[in-house]
Amino acid sequence: MPLVSMRQLLDEAARGGYGVGAFNVNNMEQIQAIMEAARETSSPVIIQASRGARSYTNDLFLWHLMQAAVELYPEIPVSLHLDHGNEPQTCFSAIDLGFTSVMMDGSLEADGKTPASFEYNVAVTKEVVAYAHARGVTVEGELGTLGGIEDGHGSGEVHLTDPDEAVEFVAATGIDALAVAIGTSHGAYKFAQAPDGEVLKMSLIEEIHRRLPETHLVMHGSSSVPPELVEQINRYGGALNPAWGVPIGEIQLGIRNGVRKINVDTDSRLAVTGAIRKVFAESPEKFDPRDYLKPARAAMQELIAGRMHDFGQAGHAEDYAAIPLDAMRAGYEAAAATV
Ligand code: G3H
Ligand code: 13P
Ligand code: ZN
Repeated sequence: MPLVSMRQLLDEAARGGYGVGAFNVNNMEQIQAIMEAARETSSPVIIQASRGARSYTNDLFLWHLMQAAVELYPEIPVSLHLDHGNEPQTCFSAIDLGFTSVMMDGSLEADGKTPASFEYNVAVTKEVVAYAHARGVTVEGELGTLGGIEDGHGSGEVHLTDPDEAVEFVAATGIDALAVAIGTSHGAYKFAQAPDGEVLKMSLIEEIHRRLPETHLVMHGSSSVPPELVEQINRYGGALNPAWGVPIGEIQLGIRNGVRKINVDTDSRLAVTGAIRKVFAESPEKFDPRDYLKPARAAMQELIAGRMHDFGQAGHAEDYAAIPLDAMRAGYEAAAATV
């Protein structure tokens, strides 16, 4: 199957009432871990690359690795998505490279740090929607900002999504999916204790979904930060502070309320690091990278296969065939003509 439009993948998820994990990658082993987990669980999947991942892989390595994934796993619908595009040009270059989906994160200015005005967000997102939809490519926008700056991205301030603005934003931009800010942060340190409804505002998702029942919602910062992975890292020489993530049950509540895309990066990083530290600590005589990259890949596969079951995407890989991007483009044109 060729790379699939993310819009199609999310429309199918909405029809089936499930969510789809969007997993960040930076190298071959992470792509392999996700594809093996998808095969093991028969799941459609979204693979996403940040600006940092694109520069780490020099784009072309990433692109050819993704082509290998498509060739080797023909039964798996897979979308390649740009995570947190900081300005229209970043989205355009991803689209030109062949990504089937982009995120224009206009909640922040192009520096990826300063909270942007609503008007700025609408203007840059509209610009990307025009370019992307003319090529059948999906667009995710974001309204409100997440907390956390440890990965260098973000303002560090939480600005919760305003439901009235969300309605206006979706109408003004024509985006396919909306990332909402409900109190989560990127990285391992999201909450100082197990989160309750005061800090993790699932009620906001319920309200936005009530107001925008047709819009696919996206939860960023959705790693669960499993304590056993934090413990494993620390047992083998790591120094992570106690950390709380987003409980799976809360994500599942989101999925029942219109969340179709769930962004997970930190949990994969924890799984990979825990496995590598274990090999280094237990077998210090080893120096062949395969000796630690293989267990790292296996640990990430296990983590992701679990998430695929939790999110409900397992078992849905063979529900549908890919709609070519040309047909997606024609669909967007037809929809625009009826407005
Ligand atoms: O948005 C954050 C993702 O976890 C990507 O992180 O920018 O360090 O690649 P990164
Ligand atoms: P985590 O840091 O919780 O994995 O979030 C990843 C993310 O939102 C990528 O866009
Ligand atoms: Zn994010």
